[in-house]
Amino acid sequence: MANVFPRWTNFVPIKIALCIVMVVAAAITFFVYYANPEAQRVGYQPTQPIPFSHVVHAGQLGMDCRYCHSFVEESGHANVPSANTCWNCHQHVKTDSPKLEPLRAAVDKNFEGYTGAPIEWVKVHNSPDYVKFDHSAHVNRGVSCVSCHGRIDEMEVVHQDQSHTMGWCLDCHRAPENHLRPIEEVTNMAYDAEEYLKTEAGQKLVEHAEACGYKASITNQQELGAFLRSQWTIGPKESCFTCHR
Ligand code: HEC
Ligand code: HEC
Ligand code: HEC
Ligand code: HEC
Ligand code: HEC
Repeated sequence: MANVFPRWTNFVPIKIALCIVMVVAAAITFFVYYANPEAQRVGYQPTQPIPFSHVVHAGQLGMDCRYCHSFVEESGHANVPSANTCWNCHQHVKTDSPKLEPLRAAVDKNFEGYTGAPIEWVKVHNSPDYVKFDHSAHVNRGVSCVSCHGRIDEMEVVHQDQSHTMGWCLDCHRAPENHLRPIEEVTNMAYDAEEYLKTEAGQKLVEHAEACGYKASITNQQELGAFLRSQWTIGPKESCFTCHR
């Protein structure tokens, strides 16, 4: 009987097996790479062109984050300040500091190294392009910078504090009450819900809740968060197109 299958088909099983091995290897590589971005990114701390300290400016000088990151409330993208924002103060303060030479190169026409080129800050946080993230959607709904960036006011050099993985986003979208706080406290890095509830503003909020007929007690972060969540009807979405284009 004539052979129905041509001779080369004898090698097909080997090719299929090889293919499977390669696909599995690729899948493992992909998984190890993407399942573990946390280990790759938390702690990422690039060297900046100027040794700018959040401890000095946001901590000791008590400047509000929005003085420099002025777009966080209005826009999806946060911004790093332009050299002019720094120059507002530094044309008077520490003018001779060698650390500020790149700033003077950017703005000071009397400086011999003047170029007029902007300061090239190195980005610390970087979501992949296929992720839609929006600062204003969070900051105007009582989610603080601290929840996503950590204690920036205690960082001499900014590093990435949270993983910013998909699971991390979803953890909060499923239980935002663990993070919600009054809007005016969003840039207060040292905020503590229980301390807040002892203040005059906190007392007023509790009275307001009672007057509105809110039944549950409000004594800690979860309870205050749950109240704010119900009052503002907060329901972060979990469907794919919320965060993906
Ligand atoms: C005086 C201006 C100034 C103030 C005030 C300030 N920042 Fe910044 N911030 C900067 C500059 C400049 C950079 C870029 C250099 C760096 O990373 O240190 C930066 C970087 C950052 C980054 C990292 C951005 C990236 O590349 O991913 C975060 C997050 C941040 N700031 C949060 C805050 C928070 C939160 C506050 C308030 C507690 C704050 N900043 C106050 C000037 C400021
Ligand atoms: C509201 C005013 C103000 C603004 C705006 C400001 N600074 Fe400062 N900065 C200060 C003061 C005050 C000090 C000095 C603190 C001290 O006495 O050590 C300082 C210190 C510094 C130092 C340390 C200088 C040295 O030699 O020790 C650097 C570097 C610096 N600032 C960079 C920046 C940059 C970059 C920006 C813009 C992103 C900026 N500052 C915006 C007020 C400001
Ligand atoms: C819900 C989480 C979340 C909150 C709240 C949040 N951020 Fe961010 N922030 C991010 C993520 C994610 C990125 C990276 C975005 C990207 O790469 O497009 C980022 C990036 C930044 C950057 C870098 C922007 C750039 O283009 O270089 C700055 C500055 C910043 N945030 C400041 C702040 C400040 C100040 C606050 C509080 C007023 C704040 N963020 C609140 C998650 C958050
Ligand atoms: C600490 C809590 C928290 C984290 C972390 C967080 N979110 Fe949110 N997110 C919220 C809250 C609260 C809202 C507001 C929901 C509302 O207005 O009902 C929101 C809203 C959004 C919205 C607007 C659409 C909507 O659901 O109303 C987008 C888009 C979004 N988040 C994306 C992200 C992405 C991407 C990440 C991770 C990089 C992230 N979020 C991390 C709490 C968080
Ligand atoms: C709350 C925001 C959010 C929602 C909702 C969301 N994603 Fe993501 N997703 C992200 C972020 C942020 C990343 C980037 C993770 C990183 O950089 O590590 C990501 C990454 C991914 C990736 C790349 C692989 C990985 O896990 O890192 C895939 C695939 C993906 N998402 C699919 C989906 C699908 C399918 C859904 C709907 C079931 C979904 N996502 C819903 C935020 C979200």
